Amino acid sequence: MDIRIPRGTQDILPGTSEKWQYVESIWHDICRRFNYSEIRTPIFEQTELFQRGVGDTTDIVQKEMYTFSDRSGRSLTLRPEGTASVVRSYVENKRYGSPDQPDKLYYTGPMFRYERPQSGRMRQFVQFGVEAIGSADPAVDAEVIALAMEFYKEAGLKGLKLVLNSLGDQESRQAHRDALINHFKPQIDEFCEDCQHRLEKNPLRILDCKEDKDHPLMETAPSIIDYLNEESREYFNTVQELLDKMGIPYEIDPGLVRGLDYYNNTAFEIMIDGDGFGAISTLTGGGRYNGLVEELGGPESPGIGFALSVERLLMALDAQGVELPVEKGIDCYLVTMGEEPSKEGTAILTELRRAGIQADKDYLGKKMKAQFKTADRLKASFTAVLGEEEWQAGKINVKDMSSGEQQVIELEQLTAYLNEKLEGTT
Ligand code: HAM
Repeated sequence: MDIRIPRGTQDILPGTSEKWQYVESIWHDICRRFNYSEIRTPIFEQTELFQRGVGDTTDIVQKEMYTFSDRSGRSLTLRPEGTASVVRSYVENKRYGSPDQPDKLYYTGPMFRYERPQSGRMRQFVQFGVEAIGSADPAVDAEVIALAMEFYKEAGLKGLKLVLNSLGDQESRQAHRDALINHFKPQIDEFCEDCQHRLEKNPLRILDCKEDKDHPLMETAPSIIDYLNEESREYFNTVQELLDKMGIPYEIDPGLVRGLDYYNNTAFEIMIDGDGFGAISTLTGGGRYNGLVEELGGPESPGIGFALSVERLLMALDAQGVELPVEKGIDCYLVTMGEEPSKEGTAILTELRRAGIQADKDYLGKKMKAQFKTADRLKASFTAVLGEEEWQAGKINVKDMSSGEQQVIELEQLTAYLNEKLEGTT
C-alpha cells in the first residue's frame, strides 16, 4: 500500500494531541470568561458564500479554495476561514433580532486552503476565532484584541507584537482607492499580471503583492492613514486609547492591509519576534467588517473578529521551548498474574475508572517483569499487583513508583487508598 496523507495535512498523534487539548481548554476558558459562546458551523458551505463574503479578488477565492460539486451538481467549498460562515449563520438564524447585541461568538475547527505547504502553512489547519457582531463600539475592537493577547499569555507565549492599522470607513477607503489607482496606473504594466487585475478591482491588494514588493512605487504608495476621514480617524484613536488603558502595547503599521476583502476600520495582526520561527511570523489576523452582514443578506450589523491557527501557536511555543503542563503519566497500572486475577482485574479497572482514576492493565498476557516495564513506560504513579495469592486472600500489593514504598492492602480498599494518595497530585 502506498497511500499517504495528503500534502499539507498532518496526523496529530498521541504525545502531541495532549498539547492540542491543553490549548483548546485554555481557549474555551478564555472565551467563557469574556462571555463568548461557541458556534459550530458546517465544514462545507455553498461556494457563493465565500465568493461574496471573502471576496472575488482575494487569493483565497481565486486560487486556494477546495471547491467541488456534490452529486446533485451544487457547488460546495470546504471553508477556507470561519467569518463568512459565522455571519451567514447570524443572518440565517436571525440572531440580529436578539436583544443581546453584540452577538459574541467563538469557534474552533479545521479550515482548508490550497496553499504551497511549508512550516506553519498547511492545507488543512485549525483556527480558533471569535466574532462579535452587532456593535460599532470601539470598545469591542479592544475587547477582541485583549482576548487574543490574553489567550497567548495564558498559553505561555512571549515576545508578541500587536500590529494595528485602520483601513477606514467606506468614504475613506474610496478616497484611498482612487489615490492608489492614480499612483499605480501610469506604470501598472511593470507589475505582475495579478496586480494588473487588482488595479481596478481592488488596488489595496497590490500593496500585499509578494512578487512586486520591491517595485519603487510600493514605497511611495499613498497610505490609508492619510485618507482617513474625521470619523474613521476618531474611531482609530479611540481604539488606541482603550488599548492604552488596558495596558496592551501595539505598533501602528499603515502597510497592514490583510488578505480578505471584508475589512474596514480596525485591522490587526499579532506577530512573533524571534529565531527559529522562519518566514511565517503572523500568528493571528483580524479586523472589523462593517458591511459584511448586509452583503450576506442581513440588516446593518457591524462586526469584528480574529482568527489564529493552533499549528502556528504550537510552533511558536516549541520555538520558545515552552513546556506545556500536559499530563505526564497514568495514575495506576494494574499488574496481574494468573487467569483469575487477570479476570478480576477487569472489574478492578472498572471501579477505579468510575472513581476518576486513570488506570490500565496488560492485554497481551505479558510476564510480570514485562508488565512492570509497561508501567514504567506509562509513567504510572502506582502499580497494583494482583497474583493468585493476593487474589485468594482478597488483598492487593500497591507500590508507589516514585518512593518505591510497597503496601499490601485489602482489595476492596484499593480505590479509596489510591484516591487518598493521589489527592493533591493532579
Ligand atoms: P487570516 O489572516 O486569513 O484571517 O487567517 C487568520 C490566521 O489563520 C492567520 O494569522 C494564521 O495564524 C492562520 N492561518 C491562515 N492560513 C493558514 C495556513 N495555511 N496554515 C496555518 N495557519 C494559517 C482569517 O481567516 C479571518 N477569518 C480572521 C477574522 C475573523 N477576521 C475577522 N474575523
